[in-house]
Amino acid sequence: MPDNKRRLRSAEWFGTADKNGFMYRSWMKNQGIPDHEFQGKPIIGICNTWSELTPCNAHFRKIAEHVKKGVLEAGGYPVEFPVFSNGESNLRPTAMFTRNLASMDVEEAIRGNPMDAVVLLVGCDKTTPALLMGAASCDLPTIVVTGGPMLNGKHEGQDIGSGTVVWKLSEEVKAGKISIHDFMAAEAGMSRSAGTCNTMGTASTMACMAESLGTSLPHNAAIPAVDSRRYVLAHLSGNRIVEMVDEDLKLSKVLTKDAFENAIRTNAAIGGSTNAVIHLKAIAGRIGVELGMDDWSRVGRGTPTIVDLQPSGRYLMEEFYYAGGLPAVLKRLGEADLLPHKDALTVNGKTLWENVCDAPLYNDEVIRPLDNPLREDGGMCVLRGNLAPGGAVLKPSAATPELMQHRGRAVVFENFDDYKARINDTDLDVDADSILVMKNCGPRGYHGMAEVGNMGLPSKLLEQGITDMVRISDARMSGTAYGTVVLHVAPEAAAGGPLAAVRNGDWIELDCNSGRLHLEVDALELEARLAEGDPTAVSKEIARSGGYRQLYIEHVLQADEGCDFDFLVGSRGADVPRHSH
Ligand code: FES
Ligand code: MG
Repeated sequence: MPDNKRRLRSAEWFGTADKNGFMYRSWMKNQGIPDHEFQGKPIIGICNTWSELTPCNAHFRKIAEHVKKGVLEAGGYPVEFPVFSNGESNLRPTAMFTRNLASMDVEEAIRGNPMDAVVLLVGCDKTTPALLMGAASCDLPTIVVTGGPMLNGKHEGQDIGSGTVVWKLSEEVKAGKISIHDFMAAEAGMSRSAGTCNTMGTASTMACMAESLGTSLPHNAAIPAVDSRRYVLAHLSGNRIVEMVDEDLKLSKVLTKDAFENAIRTNAAIGGSTNAVIHLKAIAGRIGVELGMDDWSRVGRGTPTIVDLQPSGRYLMEEFYYAGGLPAVLKRLGEADLLPHKDALTVNGKTLWENVCDAPLYNDEVIRPLDNPLREDGGMCVLRGNLAPGGAVLKPSAATPELMQHRGRAVVFENFDDYKARINDTDLDVDADSILVMKNCGPRGYHGMAEVGNMGLPSKLLEQGITDMVRISDARMSGTAYGTVVLHVAPEAAAGGPLAAVRNGDWIELDCNSGRLHLEVDALELEARLAEGDPTAVSKEIARSGGYRQLYIEHVLQADEGCDFDFLVGSRGADVPRHSH
């Protein structure tokens, strides 16, 4: 068999004339693959999160076909393989619970199989970090192809945004402003094409993160799922991944600390989801990059949010693409010296700045000028204090400015069920200045850290016209949600964090300017309260029921550590394992 310039990894399977080579090739040939396809062509894995239970990724077989055309055209051979698909909309208790499981699937599938490089087909929220995490632990040449957002939702003559409209309409039903019939009629209008949430929710945020990290071709984040240019991008990504094998352009050459700093700055500019704080930490951990909560303050704070998309602003992903997409945002940042590392390498072999310096911008309403931003300071607000020694986050662009410095009395819910049972009780002792506190919704407490942090307000306050209150929890929040919401409190209550000790009537101070989250209870009293019970008992009990839940609860790291499993942090490379026969 002809020698390649550099011996391909896949040649360890297909490149020998002995018994092993016979076996690896022979079984593959049952798919009708001719001999010449095994003569030293790069084998490109197409890691597919297609699933009809992940509706956001249900069109991925077609995207994979276009990637394959590109791979074949460039002289590679494509092999599509399925991995666990984390669908945000259906999976209970939350798709976050299985993000690490999916990442393990991805890592072992890549390492154990004959491939020289991999294309990651991602879309719905958790699929992007899960696949990047798994791929980072292997570190082959890797390129991300995103499925793209849905077309704008349409309802009663208005554009409506995925997720964001659900929070809004459900509050309007509770406040008696719209009928249940109108509420349900919006369902089909909201989701009327293939693709991911069309707001700047977590899926769109992570797509922008992947592009600003340099792991995808330019424009990957915003092209609508059903726009034919999405298929062209898939085809070109197929072309490019074959070249990346020749260039040995591994993921670790792209995913540098500089790349993460570019992504943090980008997150502020787009008004991105708080979930990105957790996912970027987890991805960085897999590739060996040190990334801390303080990097979000250091790099992100002071960056204006210029993308006027829901939930922070007005428009949706369709308009974002037509306005110039992420390249236009990066160009605008770069021209103002707000792109920290213009020379960061991207998967097409060019620097981030080379990719975007000539990008056109067509609409200043959607991608606003830096001197007329949606928010002056869009960077993630990282909070610390005796209530969150490991940190907590708040998304300024989704918050009410007047509430970002607030002192109020705690109204405490022990867990999500307690919250649901009592929030609409007319006797609940709560007013607009109160701070809603919810415990036991973190990684261990909920197992999975559900997106319940943007607790709906008490009906009696909604009826009075109150639209926002300070809320604090160890939960996450959907990227499509909004409000003055403190999230990811670490350590969580179920890990014995101080959140477990908060009681009704305690005064809490939130100050987003100084990054302070303070419970006005002295240290001795706090310690005494925590010593009274064992806040970790419930999660330990759940762990005893076995299965994946046990693995999860026993090994999941806290939010400030990215919620990865302790034993998965780090890159283990893609050395070829020993033969199976
Ligand atoms: Fe899949 Fe929003 S539910 S992207
Ligand atoms: Mg989401």
